Amino acid sequence: MHSFITPQHIYHGEHSIQQLHTIIADLNVANVFVLTDPVLKELEVINPVLDILKANDVAYHISTNVVPEPSVLTGEEVVEEMRDIRPDLVVAVGGGSAMDLAKASAVLTEHDGTVKNYLNLSGTKQLQASGIPTVLIPSTAGTGAEITDIAVFSLEDTKDVITHKYLLANYAIVDPVLTYTLPPKVTAASGIDALTHAIEAYTSVKATPLTDALALDAMKRIVGNVRTAVWNKHATEARKEMSLGSLIAGMSFYNAGVAGVHALAYPLGGLFKIPHGESNAVLLPYVYHYIWPSCLDKMVNLADVFSISTEGKDKRQIALEVVQALFDLVQDVGLPTSISVYNITQSDIETLTANGLKQTRLLARSPMPFDEDAIRSVYQHAWEGWEKEES
Ligand SMILES: [Fe+2]
Repeated sequence: MHSFITPQHIYHGEHSIQQLHTIIADLNVANVFVLTDPVLKELEVINPVLDILKANDVAYHISTNVVPEPSVLTGEEVVEEMRDIRPDLVVAVGGGSAMDLAKASAVLTEHDGTVKNYLNLSGTKQLQASGIPTVLIPSTAGTGAEITDIAVFSLEDTKDVITHKYLLANYAIVDPVLTYTLPPKVTAASGIDALTHAIEAYTSVKATPLTDALALDAMKRIVGNVRTAVWNKHATEARKEMSLGSLIAGMSFYNAGVAGVHALAYPLGGLFKIPHGESNAVLLPYVYHYIWPSCLDKMVNLADVFSISTEGKDKRQIALEVVQALFDLVQDVGLPTSISVYNITQSDIETLTANGLKQTRLLARSPMPFDEDAIRSVYQHAWEGWEKEES
């Protein structure tokens, strides 16, 4: 028996943002809390949202208290701001940080206590009810945060999450038009994050026939379009495919889970402030170089996604070519392929290993067990860099 969960409504496609008119009317909204990061406000990316709010005579408050990899403190500030405003709808426009902050604060505004009290690893309180209705509008493709019930927060040396079905969005609006002006580096990092969601969901021990179908579809769209989307700013068709691929990957990984790549990426974000997408990208080939024997048949199935010929090759050879293709893709989109690029020294590997080991929720979904030695060897390999002839 399997279950499958998604947000109540998902609108997607060019100009789907216009559905906000319908949402406002359906919920009889009078007072909106708009959460976005300062750059998106400055670049007027949120203007289509504000135009819709104005056209409907709705009062609104804009908060730009959004930072990359938000800390618990930032989360608590947003909750306080929302408690003061008491909105009847929360609209988040942005990347994973804006959407995560919106999900957590819309629920915590209706609860006692702070973000810290509800964290997965160290919190002591349980959420009791859903919160203020939310509309999540991603500006990248993508974190998949519009689909999940997870809000990630940075702590001193790692990350922790609030995760509960009450954090699920009431509405997700995935409009590719918002991604058309993203710079190459953001397109690359968020695109490889989306690919990581799909492949980790596909090889997760919690994968189901539904999540597999979605993950394969997402990977085909992402792998087939990410290079073009990164390097050709006029390629709107590739952007549309990335937007849809990211959404589908989100639906898959929310139900099957992500695993080793995300687990080992969290300490890179926590300790070295490496953005989420980049920290996944830099580890992606190294984690699969370690785990491929545990998911051999699924790796072989990915040959088609990466246009790898299987003729006359045994499963081992095909799987290793898929691992190489992951490395090539990260390199082709211009992202770092070794953690040494981020001023990480060999002496940092012990701290990274100790922190990675704490991510038990994620590591438990890996088909290959991760003990301390395995985590250390993956970080060591990612620090030394890739040798093309190794496969
Ligand atoms: Fe991710």
